[in-house]
Amino acid sequence: MTSAVIVLAAGEGKRMKSAQPKVLHQLLGRSLVGHVLAAAAPLGAEQTIVVVGHRADLVTAHLAEIAPQAVPMLQEQQLGTGHAVRVALPDGIKGTVIVLNGDVPLLRPQTLRELVERHERSGAAATVLAASVGNPAGLGRIVRDEHGRLARIVEERDASPAEREIREINAGIYAFDASYLEPALGRLGSHNDQGEEYLTDVFGLLVQDGAAVAVHVADDPAETLGANDRAELAVLRGLMRDRVNLALMREGVTIIDPQTAWIDVTASVARDAVIEPNVQLRGATQVGEGATIGPDVTLVDTTVSEGASVVRAHAVGAQIGPSVSVGPYASLRPGTVLLHKAKVGTFVEVKNSTLGEGTKANHLSYLGDATIGEHTNIGAGNIFANYSGATKSPTGIGDHVKTGSGTIFVAPVEVGDGAYTGAGSVITKDVPPGALGVARAFQKNIEGWVARARPGTAAEEAAKKAQQQGD
Ligand code: UD1
Ligand code: CA
Repeated sequence: MTSAVIVLAAGEGKRMKSAQPKVLHQLLGRSLVGHVLAAAAPLGAEQTIVVVGHRADLVTAHLAEIAPQAVPMLQEQQLGTGHAVRVALPDGIKGTVIVLNGDVPLLRPQTLRELVERHERSGAAATVLAASVGNPAGLGRIVRDEHGRLARIVEERDASPAEREIREINAGIYAFDASYLEPALGRLGSHNDQGEEYLTDVFGLLVQDGAAVAVHVADDPAETLGANDRAELAVLRGLMRDRVNLALMREGVTIIDPQTAWIDVTASVARDAVIEPNVQLRGATQVGEGATIGPDVTLVDTTVSEGASVVRAHAVGAQIGPSVSVGPYASLRPGTVLLHKAKVGTFVEVKNSTLGEGTKANHLSYLGDATIGEHTNIGAGNIFANYSGATKSPTGIGDHVKTGSGTIFVAPVEVGDGAYTGAGSVITKDVPPGALGVARAFQKNIEGWVARARPGTAAEEAAKKAQQQGD
């Protein structure tokens, strides 16, 4: 039984060169610490404790948002990973305690579960997750005795030249029997290159005591990778992208160019959807069956229903209904709701507006704070003037309305069912159902003006010719 999960997240992560603590950096929909907490969540531990220190305010606020059940524990000075666990470990706790570095986002729940099962089955005092890697630089090494049993864990900076040759590394993920962990933490020294209390020294101490310790080797070393700088973070992001895309393709999603499909772990895509090149699906975005997304689309917290098509568009907090068509070159802002078979075309921006079934806004328009009925056509270049400079006002447009090109609706204003507006109208008064609303200066032609005002020009010549032909 897992009594506690302790996540170590007090460090600054100097090599990130960031105003933000390392564990808050983002990787496809979650922070680094968010990924670690998500991997540990299925263990169902009685308590989850996150050790915070550097910019504890930021990390604590983030935790309140993403994992309110996690308890932040302040480690005022970062005196080492062993010290961090000493600060966090609840007094008199019994059972299995899992300790995780906060910067190993690729760890899978399954691997963690295997570590815990192995640990509990073997009855070990402590079990460490290890991996064999090509380049162990900077990591702690697993030192084994002549029987292949764990002897101790040594940090690279404290290792002998021979120990540095070891390719088996400590992933920074452990299962402990609390009754062994607590006393061992009290005995940690800081006689090492960094003058810190190392959690890893618990293993050497337990071995000296003759307690059983175990090593669980991860099948996929990539799962144990930490991110220490932005270059490593980019590598992890690429691996995470590949993992997400592979899982989706196996579930029946077509991804044309998996290298350029960046899908957050929090997003979902149903089968027979097609993801074209250069697509980002972020946050709580959901894509329905058979929808086509891309090329060149970013969707944030947006729902796309079955059979819809979104091409070269940016959407945040939008709901795109079934068989809707969006783009190319459309911007959908929060509160956009496009019902069945609606269409938003080229250079159209929509904010906080509903377009009813089959309603179209195909060209060059801004629709803000509007409710538009069914089977209405918004002409080219319509502007919904929703902002007076002080307040925002709504526009209501009925069913089967046709608005002329270049109509400006000065909100608040209502247009009834079946009404029309004349091209170029500035509509400031309600248009009743079935009426034509026109609000523009009417045209007057001044005959012969060019001949009088621009004699001898090419225009006069052309006009003269046209008049002769017309005679
Ligand atoms: C640690 C391990 C190393 C292992 C590596 C795996 C130790 C001594 N070394 O090294 O064997 O190969 O992880 O990535 O544990 N932290 C605190 N408080 C502190 C110090 C650190 O909360 O006082 C946190 C950090 O924020 C980080 C984690 O502990 O999330 C690991 O610390 P870090 O300094 O990155 O340890 P490594 O040098 O990577
Ligand atoms: Ca590290």
